[in-house]
Amino acid sequence: MTEHYAVFGNPVAHSRSPEIHQHFARQFSRNIEYKKILAEEEDFALRLRAFFSEGGKGCNVTVPFKALCCNLCDVLTPAADRARAVNTVYVNDRAQLCGHNSDGAGLINDLINNHRQTIEGANIVVLGAGGATRGILEPLAQQRPASITLVNRTAAKAAALATEFHDLFPVQSAADSEIAGLRPTLLINATSASLSGVVPIEDSRIITADTFCYDLAYSSEPTPFLQWAAANGAIACVDGLGMLVEQAAVSFATWTDLQPDTSELIRAMSQA
Ligand code: ATR
Repeated sequence: MTEHYAVFGNPVAHSRSPEIHQHFARQFSRNIEYKKILAEEEDFALRLRAFFSEGGKGCNVTVPFKALCCNLCDVLTPAADRARAVNTVYVNDRAQLCGHNSDGAGLINDLINNHRQTIEGANIVVLGAGGATRGILEPLAQQRPASITLVNRTAAKAAALATEFHDLFPVQSAADSEIAGLRPTLLINATSASLSGVVPIEDSRIITADTFCYDLAYSSEPTPFLQWAAANGAIACVDGLGMLVEQAAVSFATWTDLQPDTSELIRAMSQA
């Protein structure tokens, strides 16, 4: 029997989700169809519901529908609720549309399992205070780092987001004048600056010889942020390809209760 999955987005043509999920399905000899669905703001809700009423087993949701999808789901997992964004949808046994967010778990799994990073006790700086940052803060906090500090072009947004997470962890925000003193062991670029080909921060004193730099974005060439980090002496510079595969693995497990192996695929995709 063929199981039906899809990713909704706009644009969506570039999505690598179909190849990733086909790879996972082969590991368990499952026969799946995984489509890319180009939706518009006006018809997203209708098409999402139609996908499930026609027997779809699960779907991913990507830009720009993640926040909108939150409002359409009957039930949200704690991760989706905190992130205020849904990237994984399924129907539960009470026929409710359920929304989950696997991005944060994907990042954590990539950092810990693939890059052997210890997040417990780390001094973390996250660049950006938008949706991507919101999606990773709770999973990072759950790893018990020593500190989490937000730095954002618009400082007020970083301060507001930090306050919003205070019930969970003493997230701080830092102004430009404080950047040189932060000395992060883990520096994460969660801005969308890579999309416009620019580095999201100017003060390179944020990087020390112990700073592991991670960009949530990925591309065939090192992102501008990672090029800048390498030029300024970061101990390691890693892009978000591993996170992409790991968040897909969390989605796949959510739908099937099967835990796919990600290592071979990450190796093949990075070499390609
Ligand atoms: P996403 O869902 O990808 O997080 P978003 O919610 O629009 O998108 O947030 C984008 C983040 O990237 C914001 O923190 C934004 O900074 P501002 O709050 O100042 O807008 C940040 N960002 C985008 N382009 C940037 C750039 N060129 N330099 C620095 N930060 C940038």
